[in-house]
Amino acid sequence: MQKHIILSAFLALTALSAVADDLDKYKEESRAAVMPFMKALMAANMKAIAEGGPESAIKVCKDIAPAMAGDISRQNGWKLTRVSLKVRNPLLGTADAWEQKTLMQYEARVAKGGKPETLETAEIVNEPGGKYFRYMKPIVMQQGCVACHGKADQISEGVRARLGEEYPYDKATGYLPGQLRGGVSIKREIN
Ligand code: HEC
Repeated sequence: MQKHIILSAFLALTALSAVADDLDKYKEESRAAVMPFMKALMAANMKAIAEGGPESAIKVCKDIAPAMAGDISRQNGWKLTRVSLKVRNPLLGTADAWEQKTLMQYEARVAKGGKPETLETAEIVNEPGGKYFRYMKPIVMQQGCVACHGKADQISEGVRARLGEEYPYDKATGYLPGQLRGGVSIKREIN
């Protein structure tokens, strides 16, 4: 009897530590994908603005970011996306329930003085479709983002006209540098 209890306690602990190991592994793999992705986007944005002004940088957020997210997703068999609570493109940027909850937690932490750069979430969750590893890292507004996501007076006539034409329901403006713009999210099916 006692043996049984000890054995099942041991098995339960082993199972728990296996889950923790997996979580750490998935988290490391996520960081290894997300960090270069964000760095490349920030660099591409600065380069495009320097070379051709904000209007030419539109392609970074519109074409390069979704293409890179698509490549990373295909190469790893996960889904990597950029999501936000206030989107410009609802097709690609809308947060699902887990992402909304996580972004709202980030907002609450930031409202209490937390630095968005220090936040990160990694979790294994059961969803109706199966078991998933979920990961998020905040996307923080930089100075180079205000030309298209900042206050009205920071957005040039030309950019405003193009945004208005392509995104008549744009909600992704009014941000200040340092604020939380959204998150890079990874959803990965596990067995
Ligand atoms: C030159 C204009 C421009 C600049 C500068 C810019 N963005 Fe964007 N951003 C856009 C456009 C256009 C979209 C919509 C892309 C699409 O159609 O999917 C977008 C979408 C996004 C999204 C996806 C969620 C959503 O709202 O649809 C995130 C996240 C984002 N931008 C973050 C940033 C960050 C962070 C920076 C600064 C490093 C930045 N952007 C700089 C134009 C810009």
